[in-house]
Amino acid sequence: MSKFTGASAWVPSEGGLKKLTAALPECRGCDLYEYAERVVPGEGPARARMMLIGEQPGDVEDKEGHVFVGPAGRLLDKALAEAGIDRSTVYLTNAVKHFRFERQGKRRIHKTPGAGHISACHPWLDRELEVVKPALVVVLGAVAARAVFGPGFKVTEQRGRPQELPDGRSAVATVHPSSVIRSREYRRDFALFVDDLRVAAGLLGGG
Ligand code: URA
Ligand code: SF4
Repeated sequence: MSKFTGASAWVPSEGGLKKLTAALPECRGCDLYEYAERVVPGEGPARARMMLIGEQPGDVEDKEGHVFVGPAGRLLDKALAEAGIDRSTVYLTNAVKHFRFERQGKRRIHKTPGAGHISACHPWLDRELEVVKPALVVVLGAVAARAVFGPGFKVTEQRGRPQELPDGRSAVATVHPSSVIRSREYRRDFALFVDDLRVAAGLLGGG
């Protein structure tokens, strides 16, 4: 990691989402760009009131270049629909923009990004928040929670509870959709995930 200095040198300080997305493939802010197929930008309306932040692209996202289009995305879509949130109205992004993985034969197995990757990639997330200006941030899982709240924040203790960020924005943390997929108590954990998303929808006043 040491030869990498973080993304700030690549993040445009002006312009909108188009400019940000165009600059993203140039990023050499950490080592992850060397192994991934492509960078996966955030997607959604430039003036979305809700921003959902995931962890990092998965195998499918890395191949297709879009956020949450693999198995975790399908589960998220289902949960958003149940919570009465229209996916097309929210801005979806990740704390880390390149896929980190380990090879096992032909397969690429997800590897959790390290604290160094999360902080290296943070300038992109900061800029997305500045540009989109969501009223509410929904944090999906521990990696996104670390990016948004810092180390020390425990999703398991705080999930579904309204939080306030230093900039005055509201936030709600919940689990990552992949953890629901892996759960041995799928029905219960899916329902709890939907409950947290309903809290988020409620904070926006249903509008
Ligand atoms: N998991 C994430 O956190 N983000 C994606 O885009 C896909 C899977
Ligand atoms: Fe840049 Fe983030 Fe990709 Fe690292 S993961 S190269 S900081 S975009």
